[in-house]
Amino acid sequence: MQSLPPHFSRRNNVLHLEDVSLQAIAAEHGTPTYVYSATAISEAYQAYTSALKGRQARIHYAIKANSNLSVLKLLHSLGAGFDILSAGELACALAVGATGQDIIMSGVGKSVADMRAALAVDVSCFNVESIPELDRLNEVALAMGKVARISVRVNPDVDPKTHPYISTGLKENKFGVAKEAAVELYRHAATLKGIAVAGIDCHIGSQITTISPYIDALDRVLDLVEAIEAAGVPIHHLDLGGGIGINYEGEDVPALGEFIAAMLAKIDARGHGHRALAFEPGRSIVGNAGVLLTSVEYMKPTPYKHYAIVDAGMNDLMRPTLYQAFHGMTEVVANTAAPQLVDVVGPVCESGCWLGRDRSLSLKQGDALAILSAGAYAMSMASNYNIRTRGAEVLVTDDVAKLVRSRENVATLLASQLACL
Ligand code: LLP
Repeated sequence: MQSLPPHFSRRNNVLHLEDVSLQAIAAEHGTPTYVYSATAISEAYQAYTSALKGRQARIHYAIKANSNLSVLKLLHSLGAGFDILSAGELACALAVGATGQDIIMSGVGKSVADMRAALAVDVSCFNVESIPELDRLNEVALAMGKVARISVRVNPDVDPKTHPYISTGLKENKFGVAKEAAVELYRHAATLKGIAVAGIDCHIGSQITTISPYIDALDRVLDLVEAIEAAGVPIHHLDLGGGIGINYEGEDVPALGEFIAAMLAKIDARGHGHRALAFEPGRSIVGNAGVLLTSVEYMKPTPYKHYAIVDAGMNDLMRPTLYQAFHGMTEVVANTAAPQLVDVVGPVCESGCWLGRDRSLSLKQGDALAILSAGAYAMSMASNYNIRTRGAEVLVTDDVAKLVRSRENVATLLASQLACL
């Protein structure tokens, strides 16, 4: 029997999240539906705050991982700030009551509109990734009569040993400023009237399951801080990027406290313990707090493989086909029928529309299936491919389940189009 993430349990064979039956949610809201545990999210957030207790540190939750407004509202109520990528994510943060001071704007391709929107609310920092971006930000700020606080995102050139699409801190990646160019860029920044240097930033990738790449990157960042300050530009805070990876498949992932303690030990050992700190975690806060409920449309045996064709597809959960990612799966109602090896695939017209391969499951037509670890980069990456409406989202707390996003409908999808000849 596969192990379940925290706050999932089986009661009388029925999978529950907190005290809510996922069978009941599937029956009430239909499928595909994403369900999140408020308690799991709160606990994951609090693991950061307790590991950083006594430090001048802020957690800026990376909205891209899961941008549901109720999830954001919960995190804001716990004291989280936000890391945003676009004017759209800015609107999400503001919609749940965050102010500019709670917000950091990241992103390798910020548009003038993104910058204007963020400057209008005086975000606490822009993480800048190139000289043209810095110059554009300066111009936009001056035109608005503002001064933009910035960190430069440096590219430390370390291998995070994760999927190539989510490695960001190698010199061949598009992200950040080469460490060799960073001091010069800070010198330039210090001459710009619309820019105020606040800190330094680094993000080396996502789903990193060992601590050592973070420590290597940190060492290089601290070398740069020393060089930048020696060049006469003071650095206030260190923004150390996203969080540690999560357990999808029984990986041996370090505990969050261990990860943070190792980072703090390095910072202290290098004599930088007085600095303010920021982290931008996404996955480690929401990833294992969510599940995607789907239903079996057909069982399709072929001479070569058995397929379970379910009603969620690659448009609902892109991670398996995009990154060959593994998501645990379990029957919503356990049964005694012998399991068989099946490929769990969706209805989208592509052979890439698969969710799990060679899974031992006991399923029949109509059964509900739970796809685990689906709180991060799941609904937030969903699309309308094949004009499929995106599913509903439900947030549970104890025995209460609330619909926090209704299922899309086709009429709304078509409303923004014009059929012209
Ligand atoms: N900060 C920056 C600048 C980022 O680019 C990211 C993630 C984070 C923070 C949050 O990282 P986390 O704590 O979640 O590891 N779609 C991919 C993941 C892409 C991550 C992109 N950046 C996936 O499904 O695995």
